Amino acid sequence: MNVSSAFLKIAALYLLVGMMLGIYMGGSGDHSLVSVHAHINLLGFTLMVVFGLLYRFIPGLAEGWMGKTHFWLHQLGALVLLIALYLMMSGRLPASTVGPVLPLAEGALIIGTAIFAVNLWRRV
Ligand code: HEM
Ligand code: HEM
Repeated sequence: MNVSSAFLKIAALYLLVGMMLGIYMGGSGDHSLVSVHAHINLLGFTLMVVFGLLYRFIPGLAEGWMGKTHFWLHQLGALVLLIALYLMMSGRLPASTVGPVLPLAEGALIIGTAIFAVNLWRRV
């Protein structure tokens, strides 16, 4: 598995979904999903592009278990967080139901980010 390519390919999918939601919000005038839109684009697209480029251009960063673990934790955390946020902000599920899921997703994201940070410090 190529961590850089995987981040970049998935980033493009998030951009597509994020833009479609932005276009829907602009067209409908309903901005209630703005935080979902913002984080699909930022956590999904922008951050994954940055990761994808760093794994491509920093020698050794993608080698070993750290890059792959970071990739999977970020995928899992971002997907669960964004779906949970969508369900909550759209009113499909109450905050009391979705709430307990959020720390799990956030935990995956922050552990992934910590692994990335240690890996980066070792390589640059
Ligand atoms: C087709 C492209 C896009 C459209 C039509 C669009 C549309 C919108 C709309 C209608 C809002 C709500 C504004 C408000 O309620 O004040 C918004 C907010 C936002 N958008 Fe987009 N957007 C697009 C692409 C992007 C991209 C690519 C990013 C980031 C990479 C982005 C980041 C944000 C952020 C961070 C906010 C929240 C801003 C705030 O809190 O005031 N958007 N967008
Ligand atoms: C663990 C990941 C993250 C969590 C739990 C999180 C949580 C939050 C929360 C609770 C808000 C306030 C939303 C509101 O007032 O309705 C917010 C807003 C915002 N966050 Fe994040 N965030 C995360 C990651 C990021 C990242 C990585 C970026 C940028 C690269 C980012 C950019 C923003 C921006 C621009 C806003 C203001 C737009 C909005 O109102 O949604 N966030 N975030």
